[in-house]
Amino acid sequence: MMPVSPVVSPFVRSSDLDRVLAARSPDLVARLVALPEELELHLRIRHEVFVGEQAIFAGTDRDALDIDGTALYILGTCDGVAAGAVRLYPVDPPELTWQGDRLAVLPAFRAHGLGKPLVRLAVRTAALRGGRVMRAHIQLANVRFFQRLGWEAVGEPEPYCGLPHQGMEIDVQAHAWD
Ligand SMILES: CC(C)(COP(=O)(O)OP(=O)(O)OC[C@H]1O[C@@H](n2cnc3c(N)ncnc32)[C@H](O)[C@@H]1OP(=O)(O)O)[C@@H](O)C(=O)NCCC(=O)NCCS
Repeated sequence: MMPVSPVVSPFVRSSDLDRVLAARSPDLVARLVALPEELELHLRIRHEVFVGEQAIFAGTDRDALDIDGTALYILGTCDGVAAGAVRLYPVDPPELTWQGDRLAVLPAFRAHGLGKPLVRLAVRTAALRGGRVMRAHIQLANVRFFQRLGWEAVGEPEPYCGLPHQGMEIDVQAHAWD
């Protein structure tokens, strides 16, 4: 098995971090969280974006799915620095339908292209676990971003976490290897 290099924290000033922030074309990787320190970074990134920046959640964005062991976690890195996160989990009926949420890239790392591999790995992960469909509630500003990745809008926008969101879904088997 290939050794996995340790992830650099974006929350501690370092020469590694400075180098990545200055890079024009960083190496973008999305991977399933395997270590406690990776989970900590995943959760911290979500907190920075959804509690801090967007204030969608007060205090914490963690919920029962983060406690009951159902969720799978993905961490995105830019040249080895943790920079993005997304969560996924099976919903009823189990295994065939999956839900994705908490997609976040730290502001300093946006528009480098990290969002795409995060979403694609979530789709592939659900497909490899036998899923057929993945669903998500998408902030309206991000609908185009998801459509470019093969997702389709379902129904009309409706409130979710206090903001209008568009229900979207994707056939994960058809897009597993995009
Ligand atoms: C949405 C988000 C994850 C995208 O991450 P990112 O790493 O900046 O996205 P990428 O660089 O991979 O963008 C891929 C493409 O989508 C475009 N894009 C990204 N965000 C977009 C948006 N909000 N609206 C329209 N296009 C967008 C990019 O310009 C890029 O286009 P290109 O391929 O033509 O160059 C990031 O903006 C974010 O964390 N936002 C705050 C939290 C949030 O809204 N989460 C999603 C909840 S539904």
